[in-house]
Amino acid sequence: MKILVIGSGGREHALVWKIKQSPHAEKIFCAPGNGGIAALAECIDIKADDVAGILAFAKKEKIDLTVVGPEVPLVLGIVDAFEQAGLCIFGPTQNAAELEGSKIFAKEFMKEMGIPTAEFAAFDNIVEAKEYLKTSAFPVVVKADGLAAGKGVVICKNEQEAIAALDQIMGEKIFKDAGAKVVIEEFLEGEEVSVLAISDGTHFVMLDSAQDHKRIFDNDQGPNTGGMGAYSPAPVLTAELKDEVAKKVIAPTVRGMQRRASPFVGVIYAGLMITPRGPMVLEYNARFGDPETQAVLPRLKTDLVDVLMAACNDTLDKIHLEWDSRPAVCVVMAAKGYPGDYPKGDMILGLDAAAKIKDAVVFHAGTVSKDGGVVTAGGRVLGVTALGVDIKSAIAQAYEAVSKISWGGAYFRKDIGHKAINR
Ligand code: AMP
Ligand code: GLY
Repeated sequence: MKILVIGSGGREHALVWKIKQSPHAEKIFCAPGNGGIAALAECIDIKADDVAGILAFAKKEKIDLTVVGPEVPLVLGIVDAFEQAGLCIFGPTQNAAELEGSKIFAKEFMKEMGIPTAEFAAFDNIVEAKEYLKTSAFPVVVKADGLAAGKGVVICKNEQEAIAALDQIMGEKIFKDAGAKVVIEEFLEGEEVSVLAISDGTHFVMLDSAQDHKRIFDNDQGPNTGGMGAYSPAPVLTAELKDEVAKKVIAPTVRGMQRRASPFVGVIYAGLMITPRGPMVLEYNARFGDPETQAVLPRLKTDLVDVLMAACNDTLDKIHLEWDSRPAVCVVMAAKGYPGDYPKGDMILGLDAAAKIKDAVVFHAGTVSKDGGVVTAGGRVLGVTALGVDIKSAIAQAYEAVSKISWGGAYFRKDIGHKAINR
C-alpha cells in the first residue's frame, strides 16, 4: 500500500514509525513531515492545511490510505474532500470533527447524550456573558468556542479574572473568530487522563490510557504548552474506570454521532478529569493526542494499518488490540523560551547515541534536516520515548536517552511520569 500521513510533529513521526513496521506499507509519504520523519518516509512540501494541494497529490500518487494527524485539516473538511474523490482516508468528516472544532457543539452534544461533563452556559454576547458571572460560583473556566491551538481555555479564580478573559477573547478577539462565542463552565478538580478510542462510526476499540504534562515547569507550574511529556498507561485510570469511560463516554459518543447522521470515523480523544463524582469530559479532540501518541504507539503490538483500514471499512468489531504490558514514557525536549518565543536552527547533537539506549526511540517534532545533520525548527523539538519493565525504569531509560542529546538551550521537564510512581 501507498500511505500518506499528514502533519509535521512528534505525533506524526510516531504514526509514520508505527506504520513503517506494517507489512502493508510499501511506500510512505508525509506532508510536510520533519527532519526525523524524512528517514522513514518521503516528505513532500505541502502544508497540512493545504487541503486542495494534499488531495491533488493523493490523486496523482494513487494513495491507498491517508492518515490525518492534526485537527486543522479535519475541521477544514479534508475527509469530505477525499471521500468525494473516492479516496480512503482515516479521520472524521468536517461535521464529525465539530466535536473538537466547537466547544459549544461538544457541550450540547454531551448534554443531549447524558455524557458526564461540567455544568456550562454558552454565549455569543459579551454583555450577557458578564451578567452570567454575577451568579457564578468561582473558579469558572472560560473557553473560546473554536480552535485556538490549545490556548483558548482560561481558569478564572474570581469575577475580575473572568471579565478580563471575556474582554480578551470576545472583546479584543485574541483568537479571532474562534472567540466569537464562549463557554463558561464549572471548574472540576481531580487528576487528568487522556483516553483515546478508534471508531469506525459504529464500533470502537479503546487505546490504553495516557497522561499528558501540559505545564512548562516541573510540578505542573507555569503556562500551558502543547504537552511536555506523557506516559502510558496512566494508573489513575483503573480497569473499572476504563470500563466506565467506555460505557458512559465513548459508546454514547459513537452512538450519538451516528444518530446525528455524522458517524465518527477516526480517533475520539476524550480529555477526562477523574473527579470524586467519577470521570468527566473536559474536552474532545478528533485526532491522536500529541505527545500521548508518542507514549501509546510504542506499546501497541497490533498492526496499526490493519486497525486504520478496519476503521475506514466499518469492520473494527473484528479487531482486538494487543499491548506490550511495559509502560512507556515520553520526555519532550523543547527550545529555550517555549511556549514563548524561541530560537530556531540550532544543531542537535547526540541523536544516534540516544537511539542506542535500550528500548528508546527519539521522535522528532520541530526539526529539519540541514547539511547532513538535524537542526531545531520548532518549540517542541523532540519526544524521547522509552519502555521499561516498570514506570521507574521507563523514566530512567527515557532520561538516559535525553542525557545523550544536546543543543544550545535545550529544555525539558525533570518530572515526567512521577505521578504514576506516586500512585
Ligand atoms: P481543554 O482544551 O478544554 O482541555 O482545556 C485545557 C486544560 O484546561 C485542560 O487540560 C484542563 O487542565 C483545564 N480545564 C479545562 N476545563 C476545565 C474544567 N472544567 N475544570 C478544570 N480544569 C479545566
Ligand atoms: N495532548 C493534548 C492534545 O493533543 O491536544
